Amino acid sequence: MNPLNHVAIIMDGNGRWGLKKRNSRNAGHKAGLNTVEKIIKETIKQKIRFLTLYAFSTENWKRPKKEVNYLFNLLENFLINRIDELHKQNIKLKIIGIKSFSNKLNKLLNASEKKTSKNTKLQINLALNYGSKFEIINAFKNLLKSKVKISEKNLNKYLQTKDIPDPDLLIRTGNTKRLSNFLLWQLAYSEIFFEKKLWPDFNEKDYSKIINNFRSVKRNFGNI
Ligand code: FPP
Repeated sequence: MNPLNHVAIIMDGNGRWGLKKRNSRNAGHKAGLNTVEKIIKETIKQKIRFLTLYAFSTENWKRPKKEVNYLFNLLENFLINRIDELHKQNIKLKIIGIKSFSNKLNKLLNASEKKTSKNTKLQINLALNYGSKFEIINAFKNLLKSKVKISEKNLNKYLQTKDIPDPDLLIRTGNTKRLSNFLLWQLAYSEIFFEKKLWPDFNEKDYSKIINNFRSVKRNFGNI
């Protein structure tokens, strides 16, 4: 059975779900947040140590302002209402991406990270304003500045995921098969599962089915 320390998820399909069910993309994001809660619970149950969720990419700024504002409001309210509970459950929150939001949201993100920084049960990495190509270029710049040897190990030290093991498993919902500039370096040897369901329809059962499949896959890492 494969050990599973880190699951990364591209939560795709909110917009389509919202349009189909409520004639509003934002309703899909709201429903998507319920799935986030279910998946966090199941991740704890499965004793997985790291969960990375792609919540907003550097390319998502191209969306209508109304949708972008809705997403950040949702995130703000989520943190205000849920951070104490996450803290009580011994969950650590870490943001990966560039924190260049409103003052209020930046402060809230920093405070949430600080409050939960010593927690050890599950680390949730929330990818916000995250782009993998930017992350890699930035890491290279810092590596060159540091004048240490250019190696995989040293580059890892300058990535935003520096203290986190690479994902063992990537799940993308929403019936689309692409990586969308997410963890391109870190996913080099991850098992990838594409799920047809839209994110708001995805549930604990679907998640644990994928986990069970993952556990029995033969992982070669280039060997035979
Ligand atoms: C992708 O679906 C989803 C997003 C860009 C946002 C993800 C946000 C959530 C799941 C809810 C908020 C989460 C937190 C942690 C507060 P899409 O809109 O691209 O869907 P589409 O492909 O159907 O258009």
